[in-house]
Amino acid sequence: MSLDRRRFLVLLGGTAVLAADLGRARLARAAVPTGTPSAVAPWFTAGTGETEMRRRALSWAVLAPSPHNRQPWRVALEGDDSLDLFCDLERRLPHTDPFDRQITIGLGAFLETLVLAAAEEGRAAEVSLFPEGEPAPRLDTRPVARVRFAPGGGAPDPLFSAILDRRSNKAPYAMDRAVPADALAALAASVRHGGRVATATGAPEVSQIRDLALSAMRLEMETPAAARESIDLLRIGRAEVDAAPDGIDLTGPMIEDLAAQGILTRENATAELESGSPGPIMRQMTAYGLAPIEASPAFLWTTTAANTRADQIAAGRDWMRLNLAATALGLGLHPLSQALQEFPEMADHAVRLRTTLGVAPGETLQMLGRLGYGPAVPPSPRWPVEAAIREG
Ligand SMILES: Cc1cc2nc3c(=O)[nH]c(=O)nc-3n(C[C@H](O)[C@H](O)[C@H](O)COP(=O)(O)O)c2cc1C
Repeated sequence: MSLDRRRFLVLLGGTAVLAADLGRARLARAAVPTGTPSAVAPWFTAGTGETEMRRRALSWAVLAPSPHNRQPWRVALEGDDSLDLFCDLERRLPHTDPFDRQITIGLGAFLETLVLAAAEEGRAAEVSLFPEGEPAPRLDTRPVARVRFAPGGGAPDPLFSAILDRRSNKAPYAMDRAVPADALAALAASVRHGGRVATATGAPEVSQIRDLALSAMRLEMETPAAARESIDLLRIGRAEVDAAPDGIDLTGPMIEDLAAQGILTRENATAELESGSPGPIMRQMTAYGLAPIEASPAFLWTTTAANTRADQIAAGRDWMRLNLAATALGLGLHPLSQALQEFPEMADHAVRLRTTLGVAPGETLQMLGRLGYGPAVPPSPRWPVEAAIREG
């Protein structure tokens, strides 16, 4: 059976296939392969080694996507069967995400993964959002969610089996391979939290969206406060990534070499930015951001009817489901948030994007992503599960 066909069956809920897949995945992950960088070890240890059910579910949830891979989740275990989820306020992106909308979406993706992991063990996770009120205009120290793991009642979801393979696939996608209509329909059918999903695959619309995304990427890199937020989060070389497995990770022989020579450093990138004319590092960072956008055969976006904190969590939960469904279909999905960012310089792009996508007045555009067939890419770094758990 071809990989795509097998994945499609899994997505459609082929329980037997799902069970076989999980069995294999668990066997394969009985040990972390020798030489695995510690930053990616959580992808091998998820679901293993934890005897406590909540910790086991959390070991899956930490694999969720988050803006700039900030992993903003902090959890306090409560009693025997509950936990409170908080945002680590230091992990926010104050310039590019001034109202913490995107960071809240990341917390929603984490919650969805947690719920899927609990269901896999037959537990229904009861989620109460913002039990002490919805914070505005920014998040605060109050809990984002209270989750109780009730025994029984959780029905396994086929999407669970895609968690280990899920990526925000930032590679160029094949431009000669269209995304078929049945895959688009399966994606739209995967959401459960009330978001509206729309896609573009036709030439004029795709090229309009692509041009806006390219222009927004250039603008972000030319806006000092926005670009500095990325520079400050660069982890350059294996040692830095393993020491702080979040942010924007740069690894590989050329990176190590440029770093060892003192050429590629955060200080040099900052100096280029402050000089007002991009040097080799900023030019390279911009090229790195632009290249995949050029190779985008399709786009997918989600909207919510309003923009409450609960809507943002729902958008994150639905994004996780879309990303898992895309994975199960063999498709790459890659968020492109520049034109959705809410800093003043981006306002004009945001308006143009809404118009291009036909977002209705009052609706909130929550996520935009590239969609297509891309190469397999490695998993991104993660802090281990213990780093997410704080004393209650
Ligand atoms: C709300 C949100 C916005 C994101 N925006 C972008 C983006 O603009 N560009 C990008 O390359 N990745 C974006 N990402 C993807 C993250 O960079 C990615 O989740 C993180 O690096 C971890 O990688 P992974 O998803 O492959 O595990 C976004 C993710 C989330 C949840």
